[in-house]
This record gives sequence, structure tokens and C-alpha cells, in this order.
Amino acid sequence: MRKNIASWRRVAMVALMAALGILSTGCSAWGLKGPQSVVDPDGPVASFQYWTFLVSFYVSLLIFVCVGTLIVYCVVRFRHPGEITPDTPLPDQGHGSTKLEIGLILVSIVLVIVILVPALEGQFYQGTLQDRESDVMVIRVTAYQWWWKFEYPKEGVITANEFTIPTGKAVKFELTTNDVIHSFWIPRLGGKMDVMPNQHNWLWLRATQPGMYYGQCVEFCGESHAFMKFRCFAVPPDDFNRWVEHQKSDAHEVTDPVAVRGRDLFKSKSCVGCHTIRPTPGGNVAPDLTHLASRTTIAAGVLDNTPENLAKWLNHPGNTKPGNMMEAAFLHGEPYPEWRRPWPGWDNLNIALNQGDIDALVAYLRSLE
Ligand code: CUA
Repeated sequence: MRKNIASWRRVAMVALMAALGILSTGCSAWGLKGPQSVVDPDGPVASFQYWTFLVSFYVSLLIFVCVGTLIVYCVVRFRHPGEITPDTPLPDQGHGSTKLEIGLILVSIVLVIVILVPALEGQFYQGTLQDRESDVMVIRVTAYQWWWKFEYPKEGVITANEFTIPTGKAVKFELTTNDVIHSFWIPRLGGKMDVMPNQHNWLWLRATQPGMYYGQCVEFCGESHAFMKFRCFAVPPDDFNRWVEHQKSDAHEVTDPVAVRGRDLFKSKSCVGCHTIRPTPGGNVAPDLTHLASRTTIAAGVLDNTPENLAKWLNHPGNTKPGNMMEAAFLHGEPYPEWRRPWPGWDNLNIALNQGDIDALVAYLRSLE
């Protein structure tokens, strides 16, 4: 009797776990609308990927329910009615059923085909852009440890970590990297695609709804991989054209004396060796800052773009993003891997800043609307 109670408890436990499992997957599929949620897709590419996910999910759920029900049925239906002793004879020992086995193989093949159809359809849909879209905008994406450069070759715009696209337009992202392997992903719009050295990968996406779409590097690329975020703003076409005109323009002339001092420091403290603020020529191994103040975040989406955070970043960038190049440059003489240096001797630059320098630089950077 005690054994029966124990086995019933086990059956109840299994049923409870199964119910919880189904409930929890149900919650994430229909209730989770987070900023990086793939179950809240926008645009055709993400919708295709979501549909493929749903088909695989429901096929798996069907298998789970069938197998689970059979197990529960067998446990209940064929349990031994009495006490089990060493003398209890074994039940009939079979060697399987050929018909049943062939039947199960056929069912498996059918289920694989059911999953393959939307998966292959999605692959062809995503892999053929020119035949499908007559009006495509190109954005060249270059990944760096740990930030993203976005170039619009036709529109003549260069920006970093935050970029804007027009709603309704197919956007082709041409992906390259300056250093190691990264991966480009905007969960709600689709993806992901690896960004490989010496290889030109691409993917295309389209946003239908205006809004902000979060992006994230999804290939481990060093100590600050998790801090390599980006933001995609989808706006109506007219707003996009205004954004392009603004981003193409040069930085404002500054007149405020503190900001003027910041501008001079920017040039004299070697910042200009890595960053560009147009029209002054500068380096291109770090984000273009011409319109920094128009962005919502700094440090590749890690900090809100506020004066306090700019000062925090300039004080000790490594506190926000361990291992980044600017940190090594600030901490004079810190050894830095040779392959990561933009030029020999770069990490011997002494560009240490005092509080007055930082205040002036913040004032200057805040003026770059
Ligand atoms: Cu770049 Cu992870």
C-alpha cells in the first residue's frame, strides 16, 4: 500500500512538472514583450524567424504531450497490483514491434518536414534580397572592441553605436570587423549574423513600426563583450531625411569659453588621434563624435548621455568598459596587446586629465548636437 502511494506521488510530481513547463513556455511566448524580445517581432525577417520558432515549438510540444501521456498511461495502467517480492514473476518480455517502429520513423520524418518547410522558406526569403526589393538602403557596419561604426555610403553619414533607419525600407547591413569575431543582432527586427575578419557577411532587415530597437553583440569578443550594445531608431521617411541632413553637417563652432578650452584640449591631448569631430580631420579607430550630443547613450549603449556620465567615462573609462583602448591610453604606460594598438608606441601617450580638463571636455562634447 505504501509503495502505491509513493508511485502515485511520483506520477503527480511528473504531471505537475509537465504542467509548469508548459505554463512557463506559454508565458514567454505570449506575455514577454521586453525590449530585446524575439517573441515580439517587427518586420518581415523577424516575423519569418518567429514563425519558424513557433512551428518548432508546437511540434516539440506535440511530441512532449504524446510521449508524456503514454508514459503516465503505462505507469498507471500496467502497475503491479500487489506487493512485489523476489518471487514475483517478470512481466512478458517482448522484442519490440516492427510495425510500431517503422510507424514512429515515418511520423518523425513527417514532423521534420513540417519544421523544414518554414525554415527553408525563411532561408530563401532572407537570402534573396535583390529579386525581392527594388529600393534597398545600405549601411556598412564595422565592429570594433567594443563599439559599432555605422556608415551610410550613399547618404554620406558616419555614426557610432546609434543609427537611424526609415520605416518601411529594406536595409542591407554589410558586416565587417576591425579585429575579432563579433555578431550583429537586433532581436525584434531579426538576425543574427556573425561579423568575421576577412569576410563580408550581410543581412537585411525592415522595420515597419517607428521606435527604438535594441541591438547587441552576440559573439564573445573579449572582456567587454556584454557592453557592446547598439540602438536602432526607426523613424518615418521624412524624419529620416532630416536626420541624414543633420548628421552630414559639420559640428557647431563653439563660443562658450569652457567649451572652447575643451575643443583645444581635444586637439592637444591626442583625442583627435582616434576620434573625429568634423570638419577637423581625425582618427577613425574610435567613434566619430561630430554629433555625439544627439545620441541618447555613450560607450556603446552602456551609459546614458549625461554630463555626469561623460565625466565618469573620461575619468576612468575602464570602470565602465574594462579593457578598452582609452583606458590604457589614460593609464600611462599600461601594457597593452601589440595587435590592438592603432600604431606603435600608442600606449605610451600621456593624456592624463585633471578635473578642470574633464569639465572643459564635457562642456565641449555636450555642445556637439
Ligand atoms: Cu563584440 Cu561580443
